[in-house]
Amino acid sequence: MPGVIIRGTGSYLPEAVLTNRDLSMMVDTSDEWIVTRTGIKERRIAPAGSAASDLGAAAARRACEAAGVEPGDLDLIVCATISGDQPYPSTACHIAARLGIPAIPAFDIQAACSGFLYALEVSRHLLKAGPYRRVLVVASECMSRLTDYTDRSSCVLLGDGAGAAVLERTETDGCGVLDCYLMADGRQAEILHLPAGGSRAQPSFETVERRLHFMRMEGGTLFRLAIEAMTEAGRILLERNGMTRDDLALVIPHQANMRIITAVARSLGVPMRKVFVNIAQYGNMSAACSAVALDEAVRSGAIAGGDLVLMVAFGAGLTWAGCLLRWQT
Ligand code: ACO
Repeated sequence: MPGVIIRGTGSYLPEAVLTNRDLSMMVDTSDEWIVTRTGIKERRIAPAGSAASDLGAAAARRACEAAGVEPGDLDLIVCATISGDQPYPSTACHIAARLGIPAIPAFDIQAACSGFLYALEVSRHLLKAGPYRRVLVVASECMSRLTDYTDRSSCVLLGDGAGAAVLERTETDGCGVLDCYLMADGRQAEILHLPAGGSRAQPSFETVERRLHFMRMEGGTLFRLAIEAMTEAGRILLERNGMTRDDLALVIPHQANMRIITAVARSLGVPMRKVFVNIAQYGNMSAACSAVALDEAVRSGAIAGGDLVLMVAFGAGLTWAGCLLRWQT
């Protein structure tokens, strides 16, 4: 049976930094509240006029470079995003154009913060089944565009960024993307959603006036569900692959809130020294969180050849997901 490895990763974070101090001048909040309740110190904001495909293409170029391939060597582009350039065409198509690829299959996946892991799973099976040999998975978000900067309970959480990975089919057994777990519960859709702009509530003066084109969430409910969901994904993946938490070299959780991350580590029984955290610098970048964290973990040497890595995420849908990787030597 052919396997699937991650040949190279890349990420791109816009230069502009929005600090807690900046936010405290926009809404009634403080650096102290944000740091203690979320662990976030700053986040990046994409420049006006730019969009998810600009960030995604920059991350994709770095992933191709790390993989030692040219964009023209790719067979398929899959992009995870909830803040794409426009409702259609897909951000994956825009990324293909920005990479200078005139003809390639390309499509988006929408699973909110779980999007990168959903995209990994879909790409893994397309690679295994053929005819694709090399797939570019991108997760790119301009969450600042969906953020209500008058709502202190959500605006402190979100930021912009992109990550990417080049996946390849391999004949070597036991390494690469070993297994993924995907789950969703649509009954919980209203806990975290963007009320207007789709076919249920078209854009109108009223939707703009009522600020319905910005994200809404029930923070407390999400907090609890996030811990349960990511723990479930991790436990199921370890169990069905005959592994235990002691086999793990690193856990990369979705970076939504530092208190959620520590609670997930505790429920999985994994010490914090084995948990990758970059939430302080970037906040929650939805699908891009997992992709950026994976790239930073690889580049910083936090992941070495032979390591078993568990990634877990949750997001709007509700969706949740996990992925077990054995990093290739
Ligand atoms: N600054 C100061 N005070 C604040 C702020 C703020 N930025 N935000 C909320 N508060 C206040 C509240 O108004 C409340 O005041 P009250 O007691 O007078 O009513 C108090 O702080 C406590 O509010 P809680 O909601 O209980 O605070 P909590 O500790 O739960 O933290 C938070 C809120 C950070 C939102 C947390 O619940 C959380 O992280 N939830 C998960 C959020 C999440 O992951 N969302 C997904 C993100 S987006 C996406 O996926 C696309």
